[in-house]
Amino acid sequence: MSLWTGNQRLKFTFNDWHVDLQPGDTAKEIGNRAYKLAKKMTIEPTNVFLIGGKGSGKTSIALAMMDMLRETKSVMFVNTAELLRLITGRYDYPDFKKRLIDIERAMNEVDVLVLDDFGTEGGIRSDLSNPKDAFKQVHKDMQEMLYRVLNARFDMNKNKVARSTIVTTNNLQEQLEMMYDTKIISRLIPKNKEQRLAFNGMQDVRGV
Ligand SMILES: Nc1ncnc2c1ncn2[C@@H]1O[C@H](COP(=O)(O)OP(=O)(O)O)[C@@H](O)[C@H]1O
Ligand SMILES: [Mg+2]
Repeated sequence: MSLWTGNQRLKFTFNDWHVDLQPGDTAKEIGNRAYKLAKKMTIEPTNVFLIGGKGSGKTSIALAMMDMLRETKSVMFVNTAELLRLITGRYDYPDFKKRLIDIERAMNEVDVLVLDDFGTEGGIRSDLSNPKDAFKQVHKDMQEMLYRVLNARFDMNKNKVARSTIVTTNNLQEQLEMMYDTKIISRLIPKNKEQRLAFNGMQDVRGV
């Protein structure tokens, strides 16, 4: 049920994570923290937020966590730009519509969901005169779908997440808040600093 960019399934494990690709101990620390969070997810549902520049390894770390969890949990990878493409194309392509029903059900139920490149589907406004409004609101249908999914993944009675979600993004939280309703952002992005990994000061190592 995973939704990859260009249908290309990605593979990455913690063994593939090279700590010497980045200056200092940043890659080592990120790797260790991500590993511990994946371990924690085997016991307790946890949301994790991976933020940083392009090519810094966010998707790779999300894949490594997914790979580690697949032995005991159901896992699913969703590229958010691909998801938006299915949503906006569903009236023109009946097969998109059918696929979306299955995808939404899987996104509701899967133990560990990766939302990759969250925020790329927002887009930047051409008129940048008001920086508070620099990002476009994401398509209403996509927001509504994500809201339903996040509610399904949240335990209202216990007021905590019922299933784990890992988000990777190039955007700051305040930018994501321009694209999405705050209800969505507050359900998705953990407030606990331990669950937020910032790939700060890391270089683009794509193609190295
Ligand atoms: N620390 C690392 N060890 C090994 N490969 C890495 C590391 N960081 C990035 N890469 C590789 O660089 C490329 C870009 O990383 P990616 O995870 O896609 O970055 P991001 O999602 O942050 O844009 C991928 O091919 C990835 O496997
Ligand atoms: Mg990525």
